Amino acid sequence: MLKEIHQRQSIRKYQKKEIEPKKLQEVLKAAMNAPTARNAQSWRFMVITNREALNSMSNLQPYTNMMKTAPCAIMVLGDRNASQPDEYLYCDCSAAIENMCIEAVNQGLGTCWCAIGPSPERIQNFKEYYHIEEHLLPIAVVAIGYPDETKPLADRFDEKKISYFR
Ligand SMILES: Cc1cc2nc3c(=O)[nH]c(=O)nc-3n(C[C@H](O)[C@H](O)[C@H](O)COP(=O)(O)O)c2cc1C
Repeated sequence: MLKEIHQRQSIRKYQKKEIEPKKLQEVLKAAMNAPTARNAQSWRFMVITNREALNSMSNLQPYTNMMKTAPCAIMVLGDRNASQPDEYLYCDCSAAIENMCIEAVNQGLGTCWCAIGPSPERIQNFKEYYHIEEHLLPIAVVAIGYPDETKPLADRFDEKKISYFR
C-alpha cells in the first residue's frame, strides 16, 4: 500500500502556518487527476483562506470546528451543467477529495473531509454565504494545513468485509 494512504487521517488541529502555494497547487492537481463519470470533470474548487469565513464555518455545518485553526479549506463543488444526475457529482467529487487528502500527506499536510451535501440545509447555508451559482452543488469542504496533533495510525483491514464470487 502507498504509505500516504496508510498515513492519511483526519486532522482537526492545525499549526498557525500558511501553506506554500506550490503545495496547494500539487494538492489541486491531484484532485483533478481523479476519474470522473464520462470524463465530465464535473468538480469545481473554491480555496478559502478568509479567516472570518473559516472561523464561522461551524455556523453553516456544525462539525467543522477544526476550521478555526486551519489556514485553508477547499470547498469541492459539483457542476450540474457538466454532469447529471447528482449521484455522479458525489462520486466525481469524492474521488477528487480522496486524491487531495492523499497528496496532502505527501506534501506534509493534514486534511479533514467535511460533508456539506446531501443535507439540503447545509447546501443552502454554503450557497448563501459564499454566493454560489445555482448550477453548482457544494458537496464537501476539506480543511487543510500543517497538523498540530498526532494520533496512532488506524489499521482497519477486515477480512470479514470481503466476499468472493469465484
Ligand atoms: C463523507 C464524509 C463526511 C465527513 N464529514 C465530517 C465532518 O463533517 N466533520 C469531521 O470532523 N469529519 C468528517 N469526516 C471525517 C470522518 O469522521 C473520518 O474520516 C472517520 O472518522 C475516519 O477517521 P480518519 O479519517 O482519521 O481515518 C467525514 C468523512 C467523510 C468521508
